[in-house]
Amino acid sequence: MEVRVTSSGELERVISALESIVTPAQVLLQGHDDFEKYGSDETEDLVFLPDVVVRPETTEQVSEILKLCYRERVPVTPRGGGTGLSGGALPVHGGVVLSLERMNQILEIDKENFFARLQPGVITQIFQETVEAEGLFYPPDPASRGTCTIGGNLAEGAGGPRALKYGVTKDYVYGVEAVLPQGEIVRFGGKLLKDVVGYNLLGLLIGSEGTLAVITEATMKLIPLPRFRNTLLVPFNEMAAAARTVPAIMRRGIIPCAMEFMERACIKAIETHREMKVQHSDAAAQLLIEVDGNDEMQLEHEMEIIAEECDREGALGVYLAETTAKQNEIWEMRRSAGEAVKSISPYKEEDTVVPRARLPELVAGIHEIAARYEISIISYGHAGDGNIHCNILKRNLEDSYWKEVLPKAIEEIFRLAVHLGGTISGEHGIGYSQKRFLSIALGPTEIALLRRMKEAFDPLGLLNPGKIFSDS
Ligand code: LAC
Ligand code: ZN
Repeated sequence: MEVRVTSSGELERVISALESIVTPAQVLLQGHDDFEKYGSDETEDLVFLPDVVVRPETTEQVSEILKLCYRERVPVTPRGGGTGLSGGALPVHGGVVLSLERMNQILEIDKENFFARLQPGVITQIFQETVEAEGLFYPPDPASRGTCTIGGNLAEGAGGPRALKYGVTKDYVYGVEAVLPQGEIVRFGGKLLKDVVGYNLLGLLIGSEGTLAVITEATMKLIPLPRFRNTLLVPFNEMAAAARTVPAIMRRGIIPCAMEFMERACIKAIETHREMKVQHSDAAAQLLIEVDGNDEMQLEHEMEIIAEECDREGALGVYLAETTAKQNEIWEMRRSAGEAVKSISPYKEEDTVVPRARLPELVAGIHEIAARYEISIISYGHAGDGNIHCNILKRNLEDSYWKEVLPKAIEEIFRLAVHLGGTISGEHGIGYSQKRFLSIALGPTEIALLRRMKEAFDPLGLLNPGKIFSDS
């Protein structure tokens, strides 16, 4: 799948054709104030500038753009909120960035069938708040929910803390309209809880990182909004004890809506970054545990059991957020973890996931690898899901040492995750930055099958090229 580099003559032709599909104001070129932001996302310090950015408003325009690019053999990279952490939205071969940001309407909230229909550019938090005002709930809550979009969440298969009880984005999508690389508009699923007609191509598109089709509309499942929630912060003197508490709580038959893990260095980074003081910030690790439901007595009971298990593992205390404001403050602190850790130094972020009962082994193993390579690792994440984000920081390592040991350490961490029955990305995707590690998680037969799927959708390899598959 070779992608040609666009020549300047072709580019002129493509730009003027784009301007006639959308309005000239929605075609951005180098020199425009906003242009540069389309060359990066939240992945490390990677920058790849496109040749042109186009911001359509309708499915028909998306279709015309893709037809044009296919005809002209120009690479197209779809983009949501640009919050991705594996470089899925980076135009690594230049060409066109197709930003869905102007397709940002919630088209329908169906309170009888518990579904919403919306365009891909709707910000996830706006969607959540809109349905919550109607007493409904859309649980998936990636940390970037204030700026990421539903389209990006679908493309990347986004997760978040509430996955533990409620599942991830893929568990809430029941239908999409999408445009194929050659411009055909297709629809899979709809407002249906049951649908076994044909292959599950809807499932194939979710998490395909914008390499198979561009989603232009989604039908998402809603559930009733739980009336009560309680949030606990639990410091531990030992990282392993925090990790052990997670499966211990589950063994008692309770599914909290979130159990998040932050080690001391992560809490310290948050304190510095947000200029705030966190209670017990010298503790080795903290768990953030939330329960929700409609029965206050039941929640009290669950919290008692949780407290018992935390005590058994030697927690330094179990602190309840007494007010909604306090709950929100704790969650804002947690959501800022990524940003805080990354503000320390150049870094590489990993997204390992294992069955949750193997979490203690994963956390211990990551730190053992860090010690052996003499590198700094800060870990935090969704302990309840067995999903740990470990950030490897360069700090003051020599460039040459960093370049040499980084891939080795990552490979060991990934092999450990796979050995524990897990995999190399729980919710951030493979995209650009992780593709060289794909073969640690999937065998040659699986990868060959994935490649054949890609070719079936996109024979010329023009939609989001340079992603998922390693170049070799
Ligand atoms: C988080 C993002 C990095 O959990 O996934 O904060
Ligand atoms: Zn996460």
